[in-house]
Amino acid sequence: MHSQNTLHADQSLPADAVLSEVLDGLSQQQKSLPSKYFYDTEGSELFDQICELDEYYPYRTEIAMLPSIAQDVSHMLNEPCNIVEFGAGSLAKIRILLKHVDSISRFTPIDIAGDFLRREADTLQKEFPHVEVYPVEADFTRPVELNTNASLKNIGFFPGSTIGNFTTEAAQAFLTQARETLGNGSLLLIGVDTKKPPAMLHKAYNDQRGITRKFNLNMLAHLNRETGADFDLDKFEHYAFYNPEKGRIEMHLISQTEQTVTVAGNAFEFREGESIHTENSHKYTQQEFKQLASNSGWRSTRHWMGGQQLFSVHLLQAMD
Ligand SMILES: C[S@@+](CC[C@H](N)C(=O)[O-])C[C@H]1O[C@@H](n2cnc3c(N)ncnc32)[C@H](O)[C@@H]1O
Repeated sequence: MHSQNTLHADQSLPADAVLSEVLDGLSQQQKSLPSKYFYDTEGSELFDQICELDEYYPYRTEIAMLPSIAQDVSHMLNEPCNIVEFGAGSLAKIRILLKHVDSISRFTPIDIAGDFLRREADTLQKEFPHVEVYPVEADFTRPVELNTNASLKNIGFFPGSTIGNFTTEAAQAFLTQARETLGNGSLLLIGVDTKKPPAMLHKAYNDQRGITRKFNLNMLAHLNRETGADFDLDKFEHYAFYNPEKGRIEMHLISQTEQTVTVAGNAFEFREGESIHTENSHKYTQQEFKQLASNSGWRSTRHWMGGQQLFSVHLLQAMD
């Protein structure tokens, strides 16, 4: 249901684009599904539960860093700003920026989970009536049209280490496109997870309460609804591990049996033990990330480390 209060834009993906991505992913030798399909309302709520877990260090580390980062950033801004958050989720982190940075006059959260986004944006608008909240339902891997206002400086905000979900090539394409979307003179405040011992990473993605497992499986329920597929959730199991060569956590769903899954009349055979690769979460050293940024039209002008190097936040400036 669409919100009655906050102005919003719908640039959501057409159903045939979703179906074609799903069919394409399942047709590969290593079956895969894009991680963005974790996020319907249920998936967004499960992600919020993950953020509360003891094992999930990225959320609590980054959110603890933000008040002082927000103060540092507020000293650098002396003109009215539009903050554009890519993959905004439940809007917990932007509240910290809104409390500390007076020059934000507009907030543009972008998210693929439209109903969840509009619900959270309505609540935020009531809390911060002096800020114009303008949610945009869109897939940020494609060009997003901003409701631009030349008198506002655009500041991108991309927390949560969501950048890690992209391969290096896709991260470069995303950052290059974000540079275009935000325009000359823009800044981008971005959360980046760091490399660390695999045991800690394993715990973070294999929590004891099994919330990450539910989150992973929810993608199948979401795609059953969205594409009319017939994934049987009882016949897949969560599997997550650190791939040291690629510097990333990989999440998979493992078929528990030989089975056939049908999506819009297309049959996909699974062997017992065969996986669908559902997510990557790349970890970066400071140097690796700076290099990625500069390959994509951004210069890292400042960075902060939190929780004894557990997580980093970079402030990027658009190169001319
Ligand atoms: C890891 S969560 C981060 C949420 C929040 N920004 C935070 O830091 O806690 C990723 C968010 O990005 C959104 N998302 C993932 N892929 C997306 C895509 N391709 N386009 C738009 N939103 C996307 C999800 O719906 C989710 O809200």
